[in-house]
Amino acid sequence: TTIDAFIAGLPKCELHLHIEGTLEPGLKFALAERNGIELPYADEAALRAAYDFDDLPGFLAVYYEGMSVLRTEQDFYDLAAAYAAKAHSQNVRYAEIFFDPQAHTARGVSFDTMIRGLTRALDDAGRATGFTGRLVMCFLRDFQAEFAMATLVQSLPYKDWIVGVGLDSDEAGNPPVKFREVFARARAEGYRMTMHCDVDQKNSTEHIRQVIEEIGVDRIDHGVNALEDPALIAAIREKGLGLTVCPISNAHVTDGLKAAEIRALLDQGVKVTVNSDDPAYFPGYVAENLAALRPAPASLTDADLVRLQRNAIDISWAAPAVRDRFL
Ligand code: HPA
Ligand code: ZN
Repeated sequence: TTIDAFIAGLPKCELHLHIEGTLEPGLKFALAERNGIELPYADEAALRAAYDFDDLPGFLAVYYEGMSVLRTEQDFYDLAAAYAAKAHSQNVRYAEIFFDPQAHTARGVSFDTMIRGLTRALDDAGRATGFTGRLVMCFLRDFQAEFAMATLVQSLPYKDWIVGVGLDSDEAGNPPVKFREVFARARAEGYRMTMHCDVDQKNSTEHIRQVIEEIGVDRIDHGVNALEDPALIAAIREKGLGLTVCPISNAHVTDGLKAAEIRALLDQGVKVTVNSDDPAYFPGYVAENLAALRPAPASLTDADLVRLQRNAIDISWAAPAVRDRFL
């Protein structure tokens, strides 16, 4: 994909980015070596060749396996610093960054280790470049709700950094309502709320209905299948819920960029945004994702690109000062 000058220069806001999904093969090898971990791949090319998945569970297996190299505070620092530098290079001014604490605490890395590394990197990057990053804590939906609740409690001392909570991982058999109490508590604690409704899953439209009507989220991650039910689109518009769509990710876990759907969402006045999801695995950061939508059927014009960024800052949970600087 070629990134044209307009896309390169456009000030950007990213709202759907998993920090563990930015672990590039080069950094993965470097961290493995620093921590004395033997990776089952000869080199970076062999590792990239193993990034061969065609659905969500296939991706998730590779994604969780890759995290094993993240052990120390410095590892989390290096991971977030690399993303912040990449984001700055693409003129991303503000990002809300998902992290998956349970994927780390479940293998013996402490919540403090992880959060200190991530926040110190974002702090340093902010001072150096003006890039602003905030965290959104995702619960893993394939674990029990009790584990999510305990993780929510662990996060409370870090509310200055964590602007909201989300829900990700394997959707099959793990509907939004499984986490009803956890999200009610999160809301009471002042967190904003989003949930993944991944594209083309079994029960996608029912899950979208649940996140709107039963959970009361502030926005929806992916959520493209709402187009199958005009009542869902009407509810999304009426409540001003944004959708954080990830075209290159879609092309890897289902069929195609969903470019026609993104066009339709824009044309129907939904606050849709374009994001990169897991750019080390679904190759392409936010500029590449935008560039992929220049051709038909998305046919994004310069005005559409500006609208996408306005939508993003509008549905973001950024502080007023960040918002004002952006617009
Ligand atoms: N969907 C579900 N879980 C995830 C994703 C995703 O796109 N990325 C990282 N965890
Ligand atoms: Zn995601």
